Order: sequence, then C-alpha cells, then structure tokens
Amino acid sequence: MTMKFFTPVFIIVSLFCLGSCNPEKLPVSDEVLESKAEALAERKIEEGKKIYESNCAGCHDSGVSGAPKPGDKEAWRERLAPGVAVMVKKSIEGYEGKTGVMPPKGGNSTLTDEEVSNAVDFMTVKLK
Ligand code: HEC
Repeated sequence: MTMKFFTPVFIIVSLFCLGSCNPEKLPVSDEVLESKAEALAERKIEEGKKIYESNCAGCHDSGVSGAPKPGDKEAWRERLAPGVAVMVKKSIEGYEGKTGVMPPKGGNSTLTDEEVSNAVDFMTVKLK
C-alpha cells in the first residue's frame, strides 16, 4: 500500500474527529461545572428581578415604611447579619419590624417560596 491510499483515509478520520471529538463531549471539567453554577445563579437573579419588579418594587423602590431599598448597603448591613435564609423565611411568612409591616410574600400569595427567594437574592446581590 502507498501513501496514495493512506492520505484520504487520514483526512476522513481527521474530519470525523473534528465533529465528534470536541471538548464539550469529554467528561465535564471543574470549569464547566463552575460556569454552569454561575449561569444558574445568574438565571435565578434574573428571575428574581422580574418577581421583584412586579411584586416588591412598589414598597422597596421608594422605601415606604422603612422597606430596605435594593443597593442601599447601610439599610441591608444589619438585616443581613442573621443570614439570607432568615430573610427569605421572614419574606415568605411576613413580619412586623421596627418601622413597618412586610406582608407575607409581599402580599402575593400566588408566588412560590422559590420565587420569593429569588427576589431576595436579587435584592441582596445588587449590593455588590
Ligand atoms: C406593602 C409593602 C411591601 C411589599 C409589597 C414588600 N415589602 Fe418587603 N418589606 C416591607 C417593609 C415595610 C419592610 C421593613 C419592615 C421592618 O423591618 O420594619 C420590608 C422588609 C423586607 C425584607 C427585610 C427582611 C429582614 O430580615 O430584615 C426583605 C428581604 C423583603 N422585605 C423582601 C420583600 C420581597 C422579596 C418582596 C416581594 C415579593 C417584598 N419584600 C414586598 C414592605 C413591603
């Protein structure tokens, strides 16, 4: 056999490999996993932003009755101390604080716990 036979075979095998041996098909690397986790977190915050705008902004954008505004570091610092999980729980169940009343789920009982949690994520992530 001569190179005349091998050359086309080699080219065909290389072309096949271009299509099927791309890195995405290899076992998932840490970087891929991390970027997936980041994308997931970003998506939650994106969803939280929408929930916030249609259910929470009415009070929280203007700061009525001392409702903490997203991005107002001073207002959130103390509230964040017990942790985001505590805040999420208080937002779902509602509570009466020093300056006013936070209604359960901002007054929209059709929201799921996860939607409220995403909205809180958006409000707190905006701090950074
Ligand atoms: C009717 C007005 C109103 C609406 C609507 C509202 N909030 Fe509030 N929220 C408040 C007020 C007032 C406070 C502050 C109460 C206090 O601490 O005295 C508050 C406090 C909070 C806090 C701080 C909790 C803590 O631990 O200090 C979070 C988080 C929060 N709201 C999330 C939300 C989310 C999420 C929504 C929408 C789903 C929402 N709020 C809708 C009035 C509102």
